[in-house]
Amino acid sequence: MVRARRVVLAYSGGVDTSVCIPYLLQEWGVEDVVAFAADLGQGDELEPIRQKALRAGASQALVEDLVEPLMKEFALPAIRANGLYQGRYPLSTALARPLIARHLVKVARELGADGVAHGCTGKGNDQVRFDLAIAALAPDLAILTPAREWGMSREDTIAYGERHGIPAPVSKGSPYSIDLNLLGRSIEAGPLEDPWLEPPADVYDLICRPEAAPDEAVVVEIGFAHGNPVTLNGHPLDPVTLMRQANVLAGAHGYGRIDMIEDRVVGIKSREIYETPGMLLLIRAHQELESICLAADVMATKRQLEQRWAELVYQGLWFGPLKQALDGFLDATQKEVNGRVRFRLYKGSCTVMGREAANGLYDMDLATYGREDQFDHRAAAGFIYIWGLATRLWANRHR
Ligand code: ARG
Repeated sequence: MVRARRVVLAYSGGVDTSVCIPYLLQEWGVEDVVAFAADLGQGDELEPIRQKALRAGASQALVEDLVEPLMKEFALPAIRANGLYQGRYPLSTALARPLIARHLVKVARELGADGVAHGCTGKGNDQVRFDLAIAALAPDLAILTPAREWGMSREDTIAYGERHGIPAPVSKGSPYSIDLNLLGRSIEAGPLEDPWLEPPADVYDLICRPEAAPDEAVVVEIGFAHGNPVTLNGHPLDPVTLMRQANVLAGAHGYGRIDMIEDRVVGIKSREIYETPGMLLLIRAHQELESICLAADVMATKRQLEQRWAELVYQGLWFGPLKQALDGFLDATQKEVNGRVRFRLYKGSCTVMGREAANGLYDMDLATYGREDQFDHRAAAGFIYIWGLATRLWANRHR
């Protein structure tokens, strides 16, 4: 057991993090627990959460609005990196963790705390992300993880909480474990643990059932500057508003549901459902724009490094040296990613209609099959003669 006198706890208001407060005080001998809750656009009322932490025994309960840094410092780099773990998951939960960790450390420094704490269990990815982000930013701080060690079942945890003034969840509650922020909604556990079972309809909340989406398609246009989305349907918007509107628009047309088996850091395969309409729409648009802006070799290398970037973020290495080095490469590629992309959203599908980049590498005079064609067709013969030399040599030898 790791010990500390004053601890800043990452607090969500749920049963586990609430029980962490009396547990740290009573069982682990911590003298002072400060609760820290982040507003990440999850739509929870934060004042009741603050009060709950105080009733559970926290000496202070702090709330901070981190929606803008989540979008600007974490989601925008992910969009520029086309960050999709295992080619599919846009990292909506994973991106928020290093941000929360950064603020835990900040509050710990301001209050002179010698430890930080979180309520993650020992099976998930989030514990890895918190622990590694804290280790990278403040290797001297103790990390206390009671939920990883207390060995209580759900029922035991609720009973322990009730003995310490933490009310049991009112309803029987949802069978799912849900994480929600501006970037999306992650759902796991309950009936989803059977990977053959189709997700029950009540799993979804942000995205309409594709069959029930409007019969009328909608066109959405996204404009980019230096790889960042800056306009939606021609209107310049700040990044947070743009993400909110992209979520609503794509969600209303049934686009952005993911059902996948993913490989957790701890080696477990798990069945995950995501609702990430805005992130998926913006990454799709960004990829599409890159295809017209980036040189072929830059794009081929970027596609490989993007996968590595997404793995690092998923695996909790946001503040690590490789991730920082990759950011240098990725940022260098984005200067030229300017232009706009149009999609048609219709009953769960998102079909590209067109893309445009004033300073892109698409050259109509070279691409055209019309009379304006500037490409020197005869030069192709010499190119192919040399390009094919090795092939002909090999074929002659092995005839
Ligand atoms: N599997 C996703 C990830 O690792 C989502 C985790 C969801 N967390 C939660 N507490 N339900 O990023």
